[in-house]
Amino acid sequence: MNILHIDASASDSAVSHTRRLSSELVERLETAYPGATIVYRDLVANQLPHVDMTIRHAWTADSTGDIKLAETMSRSKALVDELKAADVVVVGSPMYNFTVPSTLKAWVDHVAIAGQTFRYTAEGPRGLLSGKVYLVLSSGGIYSKGPFAAYDHLSTYLEAIFSFLGILDVEVIRAEGIAYGPEQDQAAMANAAQRIEAIVA
Ligand SMILES: Cc1cc2nc3c(=O)[nH]c(=O)nc-3n(C[C@H](O)[C@H](O)[C@H](O)COP(=O)(O)O)c2cc1C
Repeated sequence: MNILHIDASASDSAVSHTRRLSSELVERLETAYPGATIVYRDLVANQLPHVDMTIRHAWTADSTGDIKLAETMSRSKALVDELKAADVVVVGSPMYNFTVPSTLKAWVDHVAIAGQTFRYTAEGPRGLLSGKVYLVLSSGGIYSKGPFAAYDHLSTYLEAIFSFLGILDVEVIRAEGIAYGPEQDQAAMANAAQRIEAIVA
């Protein structure tokens, strides 16, 4: 069992909702699957660059003899390899301006690569990955229902990306409405923690 654990909150673990919940989930998975290998990627502490001309070029060029291109390609390969190797991906992500933080979007841009994680066929694109993803999400407002549901470009985006890459088994855990006051914050966290307990029971 290989677990890839990703965090994208710009708050530290002492206060971050998603960091706390994603690590609770990973701890439970570790207990459920003794001997599981965990790869941890903190996309805030170790940020990936935006895809620029060097990176774009490195993906298509022959890097022989070019140290900069070779380094860029080896980073790309490492990111793709660890995602391919994962049986379970746990993504802790807050909502920033209705969608993923840009650090997480940068990771997506590095791993969603034709020929590596998906490919085009005569019938359309086909994901090359498999496994399961847990999306551990948090937002100040409420988006799972109600008047702002159409503003949720976080869960919908991540579900679309992972299913596009072939990971169709997607479970969403939310702590939402945390900006509505301390009571709602605590209730949202308790609710998410209960979901995690139930999932890995
Ligand atoms: C830059 C930034 C943008 C945010 N944008 C939204 C938003 O669009 N909608 C929302 O409901 N909450 C928004 N929030 C609130 C966070 O989603 C919320 O505080 C969440 O719990 C953060 O997760 P964390 O505690 O793991 O960092 C934003 C927070 C920050 C820092």
